[in-house]
Amino acid sequence: MRLDIVTIFPEYLEPLNVSLVGKARARGQLDVRIHDLRDWAHDKHNTVDDTPYGGGPGMVMKPEPWGEALDEILASGEGAPVLVVPTPSGEPFTQQLAVELSAKPWLVFTPARYEGIDRRVIEEYGDRLDVREVSIGDYVLAGGEAPVLVMVEAVARLLPGVLGNVASHQDDSFAPGAMADLLEGPVYTKPPEWRGRGIPEVLLSGHHGKIARWRRDEAFRRTDRNRPDLIERADPAAFDKKDREL
Ligand code: ADE
Repeated sequence: MRLDIVTIFPEYLEPLNVSLVGKARARGQLDVRIHDLRDWAHDKHNTVDDTPYGGGPGMVMKPEPWGEALDEILASGEGAPVLVVPTPSGEPFTQQLAVELSAKPWLVFTPARYEGIDRRVIEEYGDRLDVREVSIGDYVLAGGEAPVLVMVEAVARLLPGVLGNVASHQDDSFAPGAMADLLEGPVYTKPPEWRGRGIPEVLLSGHHGKIARWRRDEAFRRTDRNRPDLIERADPAAFDKKDREL
């Protein structure tokens, strides 16, 4: 998968050299190209923003540097990428969207600073590309770079061969399948006793059926406590079916 990221803070994206994403890049599973938007700004101060039409606080990112940057990036590859525009006014970023994006060969991210990018840029590329305006949550950050780090990590770990063990994302919270619609429950490792605290007996029983039943109950309890909205939204038939199998 190829990822292009256009930003005025390339150094903000240095974490993409580390850990899972860093290793996927080193193995050639991910081709990440980070671009400095100011390379496409031509005045003495490499200006990329200006005051908003209609007045109001803050600055808006000018369309010309984005247009030149995106044209050059689009011309450098085969086919059409999905353009992912981080913005607090976008559709919510979910595991489902991460799965969808992980199936694409090429994503271009446009993290903005200030009050966002001149709307005409989104319209211009919306005519040619699949443009997704995406929010990572109901809060406002100072820019789209942290959301890009979040989205790239969520997508990269779904690529074939990036996570050692495929089963390890099959029962993720929010993953479709085994634990559909439930949060993941608690996990334990050795030692069997730590600071006087043991581990739930059932996990030592070797009884796979009972362990699955216990995990299911814990997931349900945690979801009920932390995200009751997920249980209200879920299809009761899905719970019943899964529970008959256990
Ligand atoms: N830019 C600023 N806040 C954001 C958010 N919550 N999601 C995506 N992009 C953003």
